[in-house]
Amino acid sequence: MTDAPPHGFRALTGMRDVLAPESSRRRVLVGQFADVVEAAAYQELVLPLVEDLGVFLRVGEATDVVTKEMYDFVDKDGSRIALRPEMTAGAVRAFVQHSPVLPWKVWYSGSNFRHERPQKGRYRSFDQVGVEVLGVDDPDLDVEVIALGWRFFERLGLRDVRLLVNSLGEHADRARYSEAVRSHLESRRGDLSEKALETLGRNPLRVLDSKRPEDRAVVADAPRVADHLSDESAAHFARVLAGLDALRIPYTVEDRLVRGLDYYRRTTFEYVADSLDSAQNAIGGGGRYDRLAEDLGGPPTDGIGFALGVDRTLLACDAEGVFPAPARALDAFVVDLVGGDAARDLTHALRAAGLSADRRFGAGSMKAQMKAADRSGARFALLVGSDELDAGEVTVRDLREGGEQRRVARDHLIDDLRTHL
Ligand code: HAM
Repeated sequence: MTDAPPHGFRALTGMRDVLAPESSRRRVLVGQFADVVEAAAYQELVLPLVEDLGVFLRVGEATDVVTKEMYDFVDKDGSRIALRPEMTAGAVRAFVQHSPVLPWKVWYSGSNFRHERPQKGRYRSFDQVGVEVLGVDDPDLDVEVIALGWRFFERLGLRDVRLLVNSLGEHADRARYSEAVRSHLESRRGDLSEKALETLGRNPLRVLDSKRPEDRAVVADAPRVADHLSDESAAHFARVLAGLDALRIPYTVEDRLVRGLDYYRRTTFEYVADSLDSAQNAIGGGGRYDRLAEDLGGPPTDGIGFALGVDRTLLACDAEGVFPAPARALDAFVVDLVGGDAARDLTHALRAAGLSADRRFGAGSMKAQMKAADRSGARFALLVGSDELDAGEVTVRDLREGGEQRRVARDHLIDDLRTHL
């Protein structure tokens, strides 16, 4: 056993504790996401936090997420498993395992783990909410999915969000395009950064994402994906854009948008918060992944989805001053000046009646108890002194500014509180 360090253990680098009121804010955010997507017939999917390493290798063996950032380890039985770096691969694994009725429309929320270099908006443990749909090859579904993310951000009150969309074409289009980009980049090797040269060997398309100024110049005149789309892919993409126009969702076609995971083809998209630093301003992203089910051992099945980064979305809300943490809410705080029985019994009775209530343990002076009542955020302080005890009553003090005080018979207290809350 290791000894505790002098000031106690701390959370690991890149991992954070979330305390109140931020924790309630996250819960409300997930609730609002659930409201938006359940109204569109998506059902919740709860996935394991760990999977066979092989499931996540399908995310793309040429991506940083898999090669550099995976929390993988050998389990007690010798099998190789990993903490999930994202939830799409697990969702498709579950789809293959359970063969649900099509179309399968699901949503999820939870933590993911990537061994990244931590900075504001980039953590080793971060939360996502997202959706996946399997079994529909219709561009109007792409529109539905993209619109759900958009509407959710609107509902939070975010205004400074842009939607970027692109099409990478079919598998064959993407392969042809990747080759064209490779030969362009090869011809300009001398102008590229060290990092870009290293990425080029593994995945030329990822170089298009580079934010380094020397790479930007080379990328600026790289071949365009639009020139490499098959007629079918081009028609699919045109219908997606027409749908976004019809729903009045503003977008920018960003043909350098390749996304960090390998499974995408055809439509890809990202939501970008302009209020955030550009290195971490993607607050969500997604796309189609028409071969993932096969790669995971299932029948060929079309799929599309997105994941939104909860941590970054909340940073964007802070930056725009919207979606504040909910105020602490408690119906009543019992102040007992007669030895403790009232606090014990009345708090219990209030809770049993469905009201939220708290008290101070160890009682203390009236002043100490009233201070605790104020700090608790309770609407009413319920005072029980010897006077009240003898009369079978409780003094109800409204803790809002200018709030009144009244005596109420103990027998009518709960009804009385209900009518005033
Ligand atoms: P992703 O782009 O890797 O896509 O992640 C989605 C979002 O998660 C990002 O836009 C970002 O907001 C957040 N995120 C990613 N990494 C971190 C990090 N280290 N710290 C904080 N936030 C982070 C996916 O994960 C795909 N599974 C999305 C998808 C679903 N595609 C199809 N279906």
